[in-house]
Amino acid sequence: MKDLFGKAILDYQTNNQPENLLTETTISEEDEMDVSYLFRKYSDMPQIEQRALSLARGKVLDIGCGAGSHSLYLQNEAKLDVTAVDISTNAITACTLRGIQKARVQDFMTIKDEKFDTILLLMNGTGICGQLKKLPQFLQQLKSLLNPDGQILIDSSDLIYMFDEDEDGGKWIPSKNEYYGELSFKISYKGETEESLDWLYLDYNTLQNAAFDNGLKSELVTEGENYDYLAKLSI
Ligand SMILES: C[S@@+](CC[C@H](N)C(=O)[O-])C[C@H]1O[C@@H](n2cnc3c(N)ncnc32)[C@H](O)[C@@H]1O
Repeated sequence: MKDLFGKAILDYQTNNQPENLLTETTISEEDEMDVSYLFRKYSDMPQIEQRALSLARGKVLDIGCGAGSHSLYLQNEAKLDVTAVDISTNAITACTLRGIQKARVQDFMTIKDEKFDTILLLMNGTGICGQLKKLPQFLQQLKSLLNPDGQILIDSSDLIYMFDEDEDGGKWIPSKNEYYGELSFKISYKGETEESLDWLYLDYNTLQNAAFDNGLKSELVTEGENYDYLAKLSI
């Protein structure tokens, strides 16, 4: 991993001539992403993220924290005990520079012997799971990190709206993928390109069914304006 996503975050944080990230997926053409978005203030966050932050309580784990904007808000404004983890070394360096006290480089799938009251996965939190077939192990790992009355706050989008309807009102969905929300994601930054990564968008029903199958309750907390939603999973 070249850690280009983290490099863009750290360049922005340290004012080292940051540039926009270029993103491309199997179902969308190349698009620019302004890195400043990852440094969003509470007032600039989408409503579903604001709602997630308002529900956070107790000991919090922010998985895939990126530049750490949610962690920073919960630590400084809500005065919660927050641990921020990300696989990106550069992103965690930026989080530490921003003042997040417990920020560390770690793949959350390797966390053991720690429990939390709130686990946050935001900005398409199901993305990290990668593929639908990995959903059971993803949910089991999240469950193992929860205190008995803990909650997982996770957002995603149902991508069905991106596929064309035929004359009968049916949807044309590419059959190459097992599930229409499974994408391959490519990031480029300052002339370099990262290896593609699997990124999963999940409709709420599929998430709810998988949650039940893995011993978790699921609640649809709120829906956003772009087919996105916030779900709350608990034991
Ligand atoms: C779309 S970004 C979201 C950043 C942040 N949550 C936000 O809302 O601005 C996803 C982040 O998840 C991190 N990530 C991916 N897989 C991970 C894993 N297995 N464990 C921890 N972090 C991971 C990536 O490095 C990236 O920073």
